[in-house]
Amino acid sequence: MIELIRTLTETYGPAGNETRIRQVLRDMVKGKVDELKVDALGNLIALRKGKGGRKVMLAAHMDEIGIVVNYVDEKGFLRFSALGGVFPHTLLGNRVEFENGVVGVIGVEKLESPDKVPTFDKLYIDVGAESREDCPVKVGDIGVFSRPLIAQGQRLIAKAFDDRIGCAVLVKLLEEIGDCEHDLYIVFTVQEELGLRGAVTSAYGIAPDVGIAVDVTRTGDTPEAPKMAVALGKGPAVKVKDARMISHPGVRQALIRAAEQNGIPYQLEVLEGGTTDAAAIQLTREGIPTGVISIPCRYIHTPSEMVDLRDVENAVRLLLAYLSSKELTE
Ligand code: CO
Ligand code: ZN
Repeated sequence: MIELIRTLTETYGPAGNETRIRQVLRDMVKGKVDELKVDALGNLIALRKGKGGRKVMLAAHMDEIGIVVNYVDEKGFLRFSALGGVFPHTLLGNRVEFENGVVGVIGVEKLESPDKVPTFDKLYIDVGAESREDCPVKVGDIGVFSRPLIAQGQRLIAKAFDDRIGCAVLVKLLEEIGDCEHDLYIVFTVQEELGLRGAVTSAYGIAPDVGIAVDVTRTGDTPEAPKMAVALGKGPAVKVKDARMISHPGVRQALIRAAEQNGIPYQLEVLEGGTTDAAAIQLTREGIPTGVISIPCRYIHTPSEMVDLRDVENAVRLLLAYLSSKELTE
């Protein structure tokens, strides 16, 4: 499992440029599904046929946040803007990696005051170039955080757990699920970090009976964290509400029942800020009953996100238990 997660988190795949991570995921799931296709936006859609049950869409986004180069100066320093929810206080001294493998360091102009977070226009990326001409990175190139995965006991630290950890859960699900009543549309979506764009088109195309997103959520278990009931290591969270959706109560109840009947630890999630692909799936066509299984994650959208391996494994167990029942909503 850890090697699977390592491959997924360390692979390059910013929003809008998911080619490489899509190839990795395609190799992981081919042979385990009946149909595999890529839609016009780039979503990877894998169908595992059931035996006449419901059409279930299971979504995890494969894109990650990044930065996009918008200017290269005469000396070869890069200026950039955010691609998705990237924040200046997470950037200084960090490294970004471009598609061609070039790594850059994020630096700052003269600090006006050491205790003030610099704004994007004061930051630059240094790839070691000496001039604009010899700079190996061009305007429009996209960089992602550059970090290896660390496994430390049950805790894992990496960039892009949002949402490669959800991708890992769905790959693992495909490995472990035996006969299933339902048609499973496993979708690795694109451009979630830019506004759930891949989920919009894939859900429309599939027109599922039920939707489930698997994504990360915040926790309230760190020093002076905003009050939130979710903690690392206490089980996957069944979403009640986030900034853009209320989970379908019938789907939520069916998930809770699956957890309780199978002795799987779970938590209930009410997230103040942020959302997932489920918000888009839910509003597709005439509306789709949709729920979310969330992996508790600290330091979301930083280069060092942290999850607990037991929560990841229990998320797989929870999905297996949920999908084994005939009725997917209560
Ligand atoms: Co995100
Ligand atoms: Zn996410």
